[in-house]
Formats: sequence, structure tokens, C-alpha cells
Amino acid sequence: MKGIILAGGSGTRLKPLTGVVSKQILPVYNKPMIYYPLSVLMLAGIRDILLISAPGHLDMFRRLLGDGSSLGVRIDYAEQKEPNGIAEAFLLGADHIGDDQVALILGDNVFHGYKFSDLLRRTVEQLDGCALFGYPVQDPWRYGIAELDADRRLVGLAEKPGEPRSNIAVTGLYMYDNDVVRMAQGLVPSERGELEITDINRIYLEQGRAHLAELGRGFVWLDMGTHDSLLEAGQYVQILEQRQGVRIGCVEEVAYRKGFIDAEECRLLAHEQAGEYGDYLLDLVGADRVPSRRNHAEPFATPTGAGPR
Ligand code: G1P
Repeated sequence: MKGIILAGGSGTRLKPLTGVVSKQILPVYNKPMIYYPLSVLMLAGIRDILLISAPGHLDMFRRLLGDGSSLGVRIDYAEQKEPNGIAEAFLLGADHIGDDQVALILGDNVFHGYKFSDLLRRTVEQLDGCALFGYPVQDPWRYGIAELDADRRLVGLAEKPGEPRSNIAVTGLYMYDNDVVRMAQGLVPSERGELEITDINRIYLEQGRAHLAELGRGFVWLDMGTHDSLLEAGQYVQILEQRQGVRIGCVEEVAYRKGFIDAEECRLLAHEQAGEYGDYLLDLVGADRVPSRRNHAEPFATPTGAGPR
């Protein structure tokens, strides 16, 4: 299965933060935003990835991630000249997809939950048509919405409905068989002039080949379109990481754990990172996984660094 990260758009609602940088480069606590969706594709076992971004932004991603080889993956780049909609990714990425299946993830989505990588692996293995991931939200009119029947089977899909029929949002991670390319080629732009991902999903649904996995209680899905949601995502990552001593969205760790890189390669990546981030990676490849004190900042340490002992 091939992967696509769509990191386009102009990040208008995040201005002035996005005045000179791409939204998906902005920090979410201790990592650039793009690390989070990239880690999801890698967790799904995907190693051939196309990153699509807006004109003028690709260079930043290239400088950050290169050709992906240091992470044991391959990353290619393509430009989305205008924000013509999510489904345009399958037109821009047609050559990249070839005759393979594809997973598309939006560059501003964070997924985190127990056994998520198992769910990803299972979904890739069992893919039949299209796989969507649903998540309950309090503001369903802001999202693509999934309508379910009494047996919680997917029966309807609507893009930002005025009167939502459920509170289950369709998250920004989608998996498709190869038909998606042909479907995208036949798509007509919506009233807002975009090639809508929801229109693609609806075609699969009409064919009885759209499946929804519900991400339930205890799972976290965040997207970052506003200053508040960006800060909240950063705070979520900070709290979890400091409490549990694990990293969320750490692409180097995922590369190592998935066997895309070996211990020596991970050690080299660790040495490129200063401070705690690099120390965490060094701990990871060390024989002894007992966390050493130096590698874990005291939660909410005082400015002098003298936390409770
Ligand atoms: C897009 C999709 C929507 C989906 C959402 C998830 O909306 O159109 O169906 O629920 O991503 O993040 P956008 O964020 O582009 O408004």
C-alpha cells in the first residue's frame, strides 16, 4: 500500500503563525506537526509516501525529511497549486499510486490510542474497497459525518451537514483500493469548487464497499485548524509524554520499532537531535530500557530546572 500525506492549504485561520511557514511544520509540543501523520502511515507499515503541499512550502518539508531514507522509507513530493480539495491528491498522486492501494492522511491530524497500530495493520490486511475511521465529536457540522444504522453499519455520508444525522465525524485518514484513482478522475467539483473526499467515499458506499472503524472512548483524534486546537494538541502530547515517558508521533522510534532502521541507524538519528529528544532515542536502542533520570524532564519543572526530588 502506498501513502499520501496532504499538507496543503494556506493555514488562513492560523495566521500570523502561517505567514511564512506551512501550517504542517508548526510545532505540536516537541515535534513538527507533519511527524504525527507521517508516524501513522509508518505504523500502518507504509514505506512509500508522497507528501503533497502548497507552492513555496515543499522546500521546507524536503529540508526536514529529505528522501526519507534516514527513516527507512521513501518520501517523494508533489505540489498542489490551488486548494482544490482533498480528493485532488489522487490525481496529483496517480503515478505514485500506480496499481497499488493507497492510504491518505491529512497533514494536521493527530491519532493516538491503545492498540492503534494493530487496528491499522488489520485494516490494511483486510481492505475491501474503502476504510474510514469514525470519531464522536461535539461539533459535527464542521466535519464529514457518518450515518450509522441500529447495528452501527455505515449507511450515509455527508460533508459538513447543516443538520447532522450523527455525531460521528469521518477523520482525516482514509484507505482505498486502486479504484480511487479512476473515481477521482471522474469527480465533479462541489459547490465550493473542491474535489470532495466525501464524494469518493459516497461512491464506495453506494457500491457497498465502504467500511467504518469506530475509534471509541479513550482514543484521541485531533485536528489543528485554529490557534486553540493547535495549543490543545500540543498540551495533550506534553501531558501524555511527561506522564508516561513515551513519545507520540516520534517517527524515528516508529522507524526503529517497525524494523525500517536498525539500532545503529537510530543511534545516528539520535545524535542529530540535541537534548531530551535524542536521549529518548538513545534509551530506546540501549540494551537497558529502564528510563534514566537525565532523559525525563520533571513535569512542569521550575525555571531553574530544580524539580521535586
Ligand atoms: C476535511 C474533510 C472532512 C473531514 C475532515 C477531517 O475537512 O472534508 O470530511 O471530516 O477533513 O479533518 P476540512 O478539515 O478540510 O474542512
